[in-house]
Amino acid sequence: MKIAIYPGSFDPMTLGHLNIIRRTSKIFDKVIVCIMINGNKKGSMFSIDRRVEQAKICTAHMPNVEIDSYDGLLADYARKFDKPVIVKGLRANMDFENEFTMASINKKLNPDMETMFLTASDKYTFVSSSNVKEIARHGGDLKAFLPWELIDEVTEMAQKGKEK
Ligand code: PNS
Repeated sequence: MKIAIYPGSFDPMTLGHLNIIRRTSKIFDKVIVCIMINGNKKGSMFSIDRRVEQAKICTAHMPNVEIDSYDGLLADYARKFDKPVIVKGLRANMDFENEFTMASINKKLNPDMETMFLTASDKYTFVSSSNVKEIARHGGDLKAFLPWELIDEVTEMAQKGKEK
């Protein structure tokens, strides 16, 4: 069985993430979406447990997608599987340098893992969790960016943050 691991912080999961998950699920037998901590991002909106629940809700219609979480190195998480492939999405002008570096570091830490990239679909190439949170803070329309199941929760959370 060929397994893809799609790691990320998913704070929150966007339509761009879901697009990558859906396309990956058509290529691999199983996709494991692994919710992880990005040491460069401070002050998350949702706890890891809540992000796991959200991801389960958003991917419930995809039978070969599983949700997991891991607080540690991706290279160590990947050791749980037989030659897993890490899948990442690449957005225009945004991700290449960082993702290239991470793929090289991960390969040094765990030579058994490979990283593959899917280019983001045109309509999601400028969507990011950070942009979504900013739009939500200012009461903007999130329909083009977020799964409908998360819109109210993200809006409410962003508005609460604004009051602080
Ligand atoms: O969605 P993100 O924030 O771009 O995802 C980045 C993530 C969480 C995949 C990355 O930060 C990560 O792999 N974190 C786990 C720790 C790790 O292995 N870091 C890479 C070695 S420096």
